[in-house]
Amino acid sequence: MTSPKPLVAGNWKMNGLLANVSQMTELNQLISDGGANCDVLLCPSTTLISSLLEAGAGGKVMVGGQDCHANVSGAHTGDISAEMLKDLGCSYVIVGHSERRADHGETSADVNAKAAAAQTQGLKAIICCGESDEERSSGKTLDVVLEQVKASIPQDAKNSNTVIAYEPVWAIGTGKVPTANDVEEVHAAIRTLLIQRFGEEGALIGILYGGSVKASNASELMGVQNVNGALVGGASLKAADFYGIIEAYK
Ligand code: 13P
Repeated sequence: MTSPKPLVAGNWKMNGLLANVSQMTELNQLISDGGANCDVLLCPSTTLISSLLEAGAGGKVMVGGQDCHANVSGAHTGDISAEMLKDLGCSYVIVGHSERRADHGETSADVNAKAAAAQTQGLKAIICCGESDEERSSGKTLDVVLEQVKASIPQDAKNSNTVIAYEPVWAIGTGKVPTANDVEEVHAAIRTLLIQRFGEEGALIGILYGGSVKASNASELMGVQNVNGALVGGASLKAADFYGIIEAYK
């Protein structure tokens, strides 16, 4: 059984203006000079998707969205459908990020519908999960994470349409990271669930770690069993910082 191809994905969140499009050119240059032994993805705000795709044309870096609506089209002011992202040239979309779950009250059922909509359009859904500080300190981490994954992952998930991202909420943007053992425990539990549910295909679905990943801790985190890449926030905004994480796979 082969393992999933590593993916290092950047989530720019609500950051970035046209002036930041040059980061794409710089990143592709760093990769073409120094190499990258993993897939590389940037998920900017929707306003920058076309510009990043244009700046990155012919390069290795793929572009994705940060969220999509579960419906194909309709009266949903301000929302973006998976079909629209696909139409622009995206290959991935993040769904169920903890910031969307918290800021927009998204439930795992909502996330499931969004992931299914993405898959229908031929996008790969990056389905996020992760426990809060309080859930970890009360010993509920595995229960919370497994429940989120179970409820958020559509029926016909497979390597070609799904990636899971484990992002402990307390590690996001805080500089705090779980120990390698803690990451290993959660990723192993997610892997077991995926295999139980999807058989051999479950062994091939990538599981990313996210939360304060930077160049200085990437090698250790990416070396943990069942960690198949990273979902990076702050350290993905500057090409040089992000490339420092990609280098964990050299
Ligand atoms: P940071 O890398 O800034 O902690 O953010 C992680 C994250 O939320 C990526 O989706």
